Parts: sequence; C-alpha cells; structure tokens
Amino acid sequence: MYNSKITGLGYYLPENVVTNDDLSKIMDTNDEWIQERTGIKKRRWIDPKSGDTTSTMGAKASEIAIKRSGLNKEDIDFIIFATLSPDMYFPGGGVRVQDMLGMPTIGALDVRNQCSGFIYSLSVADQFIKTGMYKNILVIGSENHSGGLEKSTRGRGVTVIFGDGAGAAVVSRSKEKNKGILSSHLHSEGKHARELMLDGPNTGRWVPEILEDNDPNDESYYPYMNGQFVFKNAVVRFSEVINEGLKANELEKDDIDLLIPHQANLRIAQFIQRKFQLSDEKVYNNIMNYGNTTAASIIIALTEAWEQGKIKDNDLVVLAAFGAGFTWGSVIIRW
Ligand code: ACO
Repeated sequence: MYNSKITGLGYYLPENVVTNDDLSKIMDTNDEWIQERTGIKKRRWIDPKSGDTTSTMGAKASEIAIKRSGLNKEDIDFIIFATLSPDMYFPGGGVRVQDMLGMPTIGALDVRNQCSGFIYSLSVADQFIKTGMYKNILVIGSENHSGGLEKSTRGRGVTVIFGDGAGAAVVSRSKEKNKGILSSHLHSEGKHARELMLDGPNTGRWVPEILEDNDPNDESYYPYMNGQFVFKNAVVRFSEVINEGLKANELEKDDIDLLIPHQANLRIAQFIQRKFQLSDEKVYNNIMNYGNTTAASIIIALTEAWEQGKIKDNDLVVLAAFGAGFTWGSVIIRW
C-alpha cells in the first residue's frame, strides 16, 4: 500500500488588481461594506486583453508545481482539473492543460465541485495513488469568475466576493508511513443546490428558448447566492468535517499546526478559528488580497503558506472547504 504526498506547489494570478474602490465606480458599493462583511480588500480580475483563461492560468500554475516537484511533464500520469468556470461548456479544462503543456496522452478528469473542488480532487488523486494505479498526479484548481459576474448594482451581493486565479499541486507516490495525505472526508447535500448556483443556460432551457424569450432582465446567467443561508450552513459543515478528519486520525484540535480553510469569507474563517481555539499563526487567510477564488482558493493559500515557510516537515496541515451543491470536505496532511 502506497501513501501520497504533495511534492510540488504553484499558483498563478492575473496581473489586473481590482480594489473595492474600483468596484464602487461601477456599482453601488463601498470599501467599508465589503471589508466589514467579507474581509476582502482587493481581488484579481483577468484583463480580457491579456489572453488569460481558466485553462491558461491552470497551465501556468502547473508548470511551476511540476518544476518544484523535480519531475518532468512526462513523469505526470494523470491530470485532475477542478473549476466551476471552464473555458468552454465542454470539454473541460484538464484536456486543455494536457495540450498546452504538451504532455503525453495521459488521462484528464474534470471535477465540478465548486469551492470544494480542490478537496475532492486531492481525495481522488490520493485514492488513485493508494491503489497503485498512478505515481504522479497533477491536481489543478482554477477560476475565471470575472468573465461571468454581473458587474452592476444588481449583482453586487455576489460580484464583490469573487476573484480569479489558479493553483496546482503535484501529488506523488510515497513509501513513508504516516506521512502525506492521511485522510479525506467528502460530503454533499443536494437539496440546497439552488441556494448557490448558476442556473442558465441549462439543458432544460437551451439556446432556442433563450433567444425566443430575449428577456433583458433574465438573471439566470449570473451566479445566485443566498448569502446568509450559505453562511449559516458553512460554519456548521466546516466544523463538522474538520472534526471528522481529526477523529478518524485520532487527533485533537491542538494537534493542528496549520488550518487552511477555503477562502469563502474572512468572517467564516474567523468563526472556525474561534471554534477550534486556534492562534492567528495556525490559520492561513489570504482572502483580503484575492477574494474568493473557489476551486483555486485552497491551493493558492497552501502554496503561499509553504512559500512563506509556514509549513515545516511533519506539520499537521488541515484543509477544509464548503461550497455550492452544497458540498464540503476536509483533507488532513502530515507534511
Ligand atoms: N455593497 C453594498 N451593499 C450591499 C452589497 C454590496 N456589495 N451587497 C449587498 N448589499 C446590501 C443588500 O442589498 C442589503 O441591503 P438592504 O438591507 O437595503 O436590503 C444589505 O446590504 C444587506 O445584505 P445581506 O445580503 O443581508 O448582507 P449580509 O450581511 O448577509 O452579507 C454576505 C452578505 C457577505 C454575502 C454574507 O451573507 C456572507 O458572507 N455569506 C456567506 C456566503 C459566502 O461566504 N459566500 C462566499 C461564496 S460561496 C462559497 O465560497 C461557499
């Protein structure tokens, strides 16, 4: 039986910085409201002229992660790509990265679990490695939110929260016992699918109907979020799934060296921090600078924390996410 461990990390952010003040010029919002409710000061939004897309950002983050792993592109056996904002409706981002990086004809799987996408993807990678099927898997989380947000006062409750970016990890086979990915726990509750969603276009209402309706007030092409309902569920599920992971490994909250929560909202992260009585050094947040980058948020934060020397050999690193679906999960890593 093999273990899996993360051997390379990388991220890529588009250059264009959008501050809260910038947003207040295009919609009725302000820096104080956004910071007080979410903790966000600025985010990156792709400049459409730059050529950045969900896949190109994923590819750029992947090149860094592969280089840092000490491997070559040819050593990667499989790609897992998590996003809710693919370049095309189909095919997904995995095959695009395979092509962009000039990789051999390895398998590429797309994961559509929104904010939990990176956690789900890591779990899949871990299972493929533990069964012996693959040795080195490239796991990517990338989002181009800005291309699909409603940049007007009508969309402000959602639009101010989200940012663009990508991160990637190489997950590799390891023979070290009790190190690497110790566990993953995944959950869903589909009855809340409509509380956080992007409804259209969908196969129940496809192009002919949309063209026939020709309704300028149709909001179904923009994300919808029942913010307070999401908030209430998130704090409960984050706590549950972190505890589930700790319990499965016979660990206590005091054993946590670093918690990296999905960067949904600083207030959610602070609530979890208080609940687990963790000091500031034991929780890594960067939502202030990048907003919520959904499937990319945990991997960008993990990479930054690692670059800043906040993750040392043998540390217990806990990753946890909650998002649309609802879906949620945790991964516990002994670094
Ligand atoms: N700027 C100024 N005013 C705004 C804005 C804005 N950007 N957005 C909404 N408002 C107004 C509303 O219109 C409302 O005005 P009203 O009282 O006159 O009707 C008022 O502010 C309060 O709106 P609420 O939606 O009730 O504000 P709330 O305190 O719930 O904060 C927020 C909204 C930040 C979205 C909050 O509900 C939240 O944090 N929810 C958690 C969901 C979350 O974190 N989602 C992240 C993405 S999903 C994920 O990653 C899981």
